[in-house]
Amino acid sequence: MATLFQIVYTSTASGSISKLDLMDLLKGSVQRNSRAGITGLLLYKDGCFMQALEGEMETVVALFAKISRDPRHHNVIPLINEPIAQRNFQNSAMAFRDLDSPEVQKLPGYSDFLNTAFDGKLATLDTPKCQLLLQIFKKNIR
Ligand SMILES: Cc1cc2nc3c(=O)[nH]c(=O)nc-3n(C[C@H](O)[C@H](O)[C@H](O)COP(=O)(O)O)c2cc1C
Repeated sequence: MATLFQIVYTSTASGSISKLDLMDLLKGSVQRNSRAGITGLLLYKDGCFMQALEGEMETVVALFAKISRDPRHHNVIPLINEPIAQRNFQNSAMAFRDLDSPEVQKLPGYSDFLNTAFDGKLATLDTPKCQLLLQIFKKNIR
């Protein structure tokens, strides 16, 4: 059976990113990721990205290499880069803070992760590392 692999990174947007740019990124990425069996979550707020990617090892590593070369962002820092026993995400999605207009909300793959209240609970012993990192991003953009 193919090895399941997970990469979580942060990065900085190069220049200003418009709502349209984010919607395009969401549409393209969700479609390609679904076809490639990649699941995860891409977060964006105020020029900062955090993304979790998981799937078959070769596919995830190749996608991350491509994403790292994308001129739309820089300062790409991997935080997790390791095999996993099971997936932490059911699909491929993207969450933006303050971009919750109805037209954005109805895009396939839109996640309201960043537009729901942080419940103040960071982690328990069995919280997966990637969930913890995404929660920290969510907490710190408030
Ligand atoms: C922050 C960020 C996250 C991205 N996430 C994905 C992703 O999850 N899946 C994807 O296919 N492309 C993603 N992309 C876009 C890729 O870098 C690349 O443009 C896209 O895969 C098209 O590649 P191609 O022109 O070789 O087909 C992302 C780009 C950025 C800037």
